[in-house]
Amino acid sequence: MGSVTAACFAEVGHEVICVDIDRKKTEQINAGIPPIYEEGLGELLQKYAGKKLIAITDYELAVKETEISFICVGTPSADDGTIDLSIVRAAAASIGKALAKKDAYHVVVVKSTVVPETTEKFVLPILEETSGKKAGKDFGVAMNPEFLREGKAVQDFMNPDKIVVGAIDKRSGNLVSELYRTFECEVTRTGPATAEMIKYANNSLLATKISFANEIGNICKKMGIDTYEVMEAVGKDFRISPKFLNSGAGFGGSCFPKDVKALIGKAKTIGYSPVLLESVIAVNEKQPLLMTEILQRKIGNPADKKIAVLGLAFKNETDDIRESRSIPVIAELLRLGAKVSAYDPMAAENMKRIFPSIEYCDNASDALKDADACLVMTEWDEFRNLDSEFQNMKEKIIIDGRRIIKAKNIDYEGLCW
Ligand code: UGA
Repeated sequence: MGSVTAACFAEVGHEVICVDIDRKKTEQINAGIPPIYEEGLGELLQKYAGKKLIAITDYELAVKETEISFICVGTPSADDGTIDLSIVRAAAASIGKALAKKDAYHVVVVKSTVVPETTEKFVLPILEETSGKKAGKDFGVAMNPEFLREGKAVQDFMNPDKIVVGAIDKRSGNLVSELYRTFECEVTRTGPATAEMIKYANNSLLATKISFANEIGNICKKMGIDTYEVMEAVGKDFRISPKFLNSGAGFGGSCFPKDVKALIGKAKTIGYSPVLLESVIAVNEKQPLLMTEILQRKIGNPADKKIAVLGLAFKNETDDIRESRSIPVIAELLRLGAKVSAYDPMAAENMKRIFPSIEYCDNASDALKDADACLVMTEWDEFRNLDSEFQNMKEKIIIDGRRIIKAKNIDYEGLCW
């Protein structure tokens, strides 16, 4: 989300230099072309690229010409679920080397999602080592987490619920907070580890709400109760809020699964066993497979049967398939010998890398034609209007993982309602 941060800072009046080691990306940004799909990002880049916003590959020049550097690089999961900090390390080392050649005070801010203590115990020492300078004296260090939903990142940046600045000292904190002076939202000032934990606690609580809703949904289904009715009423309690209480196939994406697992990993390294967080993941891993359990109850062995999968993206309005709940579902269908015909308005190309041999269709109608059953995995708006398309199925069996299908005259079953 570095490009969103850059474009939004330009929008609120700052001069921004983006640095990327990938020259192609910098050329794209300078041409006003967004490197990722984000609503509104293209317009902002068109407005500011080459003016208040430029992209270069030269760390030294960028650090020299600015007062603050944000580290906005990826923090993927390592094989054991902990976070892989190698990209953060490389970025911090490059900034440190550039700091060595700069006399003026500069603040380095971590925006990437990193587990508590990373900024102070990992990034800061790298900066000191590579710059030969002293943090808190020669340069500042802070952590400023982002709370941006994929697809709505520009909107979320410009209308924040909270802005958290966790700095090692007052001087760094003041300089970073000043960047947000035009926002109506008050800045919460903390230390770096607290800021890092706020981000993890935030995402873990949202993930917990979803797994909680799914657990209640699973119990409701066994009792013939409509969990959506239950959760709608539960969400009316202002202490709970109605958001993130939709049961379904579970949460995916590049953040919730990774962040909850990273927090679990961190807790364990300090001798704490986080049973609640582990259950959040356990419920989430079980949830998509309930789809194929229902399928088998309804049609028996799906071997050689045509199963339509509608929705491949981890949520609607994105082509991102990372941790998408459709991945374990398709894997299970293939294991059972089913023939999968898939459709997604945006994400098919990405899914081809994981499942190259399933059938990808250009529209829902083709995916559904002659299918023995259909599994709905993503809440794309266009699925809400599907109706006559189901009539071309061999058996009109629809298993809905997102409570989105409204069609009549079909054999409909919800995942957990
Ligand atoms: C999430 C957070 O919402 C952002 O605040 C955060 O900044 C971001 O992670 C991040 O750490 O960078 P995102 O991953 O884009 O954003 O996706 P969400 O819109 O939060 O949805 C996550 C998943 O939860 C999706 O798979 C969605 O289908 C699922 N979900 C959401 C449910 O199953 N039920 C719900 O009620 C809500």
